[in-house]
Amino acid sequence: MPDLEHIKQVPASTGIHELIANRWSPRAFADKPISNEDLRKIFTAASWAASASNEQPWRFLIGHKGDETYTKILDCLVEFNQNWAKSAPVLVLTLAKTTSSKDGSNNAWALHDTGAASANMCLQAIALGIHTHGMAGYDKDKVRTHFRLPAEYTEGAVWAMGYLGDPESLPDSMKKMELAPRERKSLSELVFTDFSTPGTPAKL
Ligand SMILES: Cc1cc2nc3c(=O)[nH]c(=O)nc-3n(C[C@H](O)[C@H](O)[C@H](O)COP(=O)(O)O)c2cc1C
Repeated sequence: MPDLEHIKQVPASTGIHELIANRWSPRAFADKPISNEDLRKIFTAASWAASASNEQPWRFLIGHKGDETYTKILDCLVEFNQNWAKSAPVLVLTLAKTTSSKDGSNNAWALHDTGAASANMCLQAIALGIHTHGMAGYDKDKVRTHFRLPAEYTEGAVWAMGYLGDPESLPDSMKKMELAPRERKSLSELVFTDFSTPGTPAKL
């Protein structure tokens, strides 16, 4: 098996924290469950994210391979994602509560903050040697009916979670992606001091 972690990790020369450098999104997962103790840490980390008015709008539905929640989440995925995500021992569906718990008004930051909690989830997971892979490729209508979502909850993403598996277990097209180096935009395309056209890149 190639040293995938090495191929995928962000180079140490960037100076970023190793927790962030080590996170990447595999499609091959090992047939190994995640302990409840680790899941508790992962979702506790998620719960400590910042949120507008400390609303903590994030909700997580967690399914373990073989149980009803897992089967329902897997059924919501598009076929491409089902083909690889079915190897993960845990599937998570994130939801965001879009109304304020104080006065019922719209919380425009609900999905934003659920994303922040999801990032914490991914980083705590990788600190424990557990990989995560987010998915937008799923049927939102199916999610709403399978889980009878109340109107004030909106769908976030589905996450596959587990230990790294063997890329040889993947179909050829996916194996290629699994072995490919990761890419990022340059900071000059992302960080500005002004956003007129063209923006003024920040001097970093
Ligand atoms: C919200 C979200 C949706 C994504 N949707 C999919 C998806 O449906 N299928 C898939 O194979 N990967 C999906 N990805 C994974 C991204 O393609 C991946 O994060 C990106 O290419 C960067 O790679 P990295 O996570 O290894 O840094 C998704 C990631 C996120 C965060």
